[in-house]
Amino acid sequence: MTRRSVRSFTDQPVAREDLELLARAACFAPSANNSQVWQFTVVADREKIAELAAAVAGALGRGSDYNFYNPSAFIISSAPRIYRLGREDCACALQNIFLAAHSLGIGSVWINQLSLTCDHESVRPVLDKLGVPADHVVYGCAALGYPESGNSGGDAEKNLSVIHFAD
Ligand SMILES: Cc1cc2nc3c(=O)[nH]c(=O)nc-3n(C[C@H](O)[C@H](O)[C@H](O)COP(=O)(O)O)c2cc1C
Repeated sequence: MTRRSVRSFTDQPVAREDLELLARAACFAPSANNSQVWQFTVVADREKIAELAAAVAGALGRGSDYNFYNPSAFIISSAPRIYRLGREDCACALQNIFLAAHSLGIGSVWINQLSLTCDHESVRPVLDKLGVPADHVVYGCAALGYPESGNSGGDAEKNLSVIHFAD
C-alpha cells in the first residue's frame, strides 16, 4: 500500500543483480494455464531507452521531450500476438515488478505508449534490435530508477468505497 508510481528519477543506475531480481519476480507471476509465454526484455542502457522513446514519440506525434520519464532501466513485457491472455498475464507480471522494485527502494511506473505503437514502422525495428520477438505484441512496460529525493511517488488518492462485502 506504500507503492506509488514514480515519474522522476536520478541518474543512478539500477544494479544488474536488482534488475535480474525484478525480472525473476515477473516470471513468478500467475499466468493463464501457467502458460508463461511472455518475455521480459530488460533495457539498462539509457541510450537504447532514449532511442526507443524517440521512436514512440515519432509514432504518436509527441514532442522530442517525450522520454518515458528518462528512467535508468526499462522492462518491456510482451507475449505472442495469437495468445489471447497476454494482456492479463503481463499485467500480473508488471505488478510483481512494481512491488519488487518498491521493496528495493526502486521507483517505477507503468508506461503504456509502447503497447499502442509496437507495430508502428518506426518502432518495430527498434524492438527488433532489442530482441523483442517479431511475433510478440507489447502489453506494458516498467520505467525504473531511483526516485529523485522527496519524490517517493504520486499522491494518487485511493478510493476504498469500491470495496463491497456481500454479507
Ligand atoms: C494499464 C495502465 C497504464 C498506465 N499508463 C501509464 C502511462 O503511460 N504513463 C504514466 O505516467 N502512468 C501510467 N500508469 C500509471 C497510473 O497513472 C497510476 O497507476 C495511477 O495514476 C495511480 O497512481 P499510483 O500508481 O501512484 O497508485 C498506468 C497504469 C496502468 C495500470
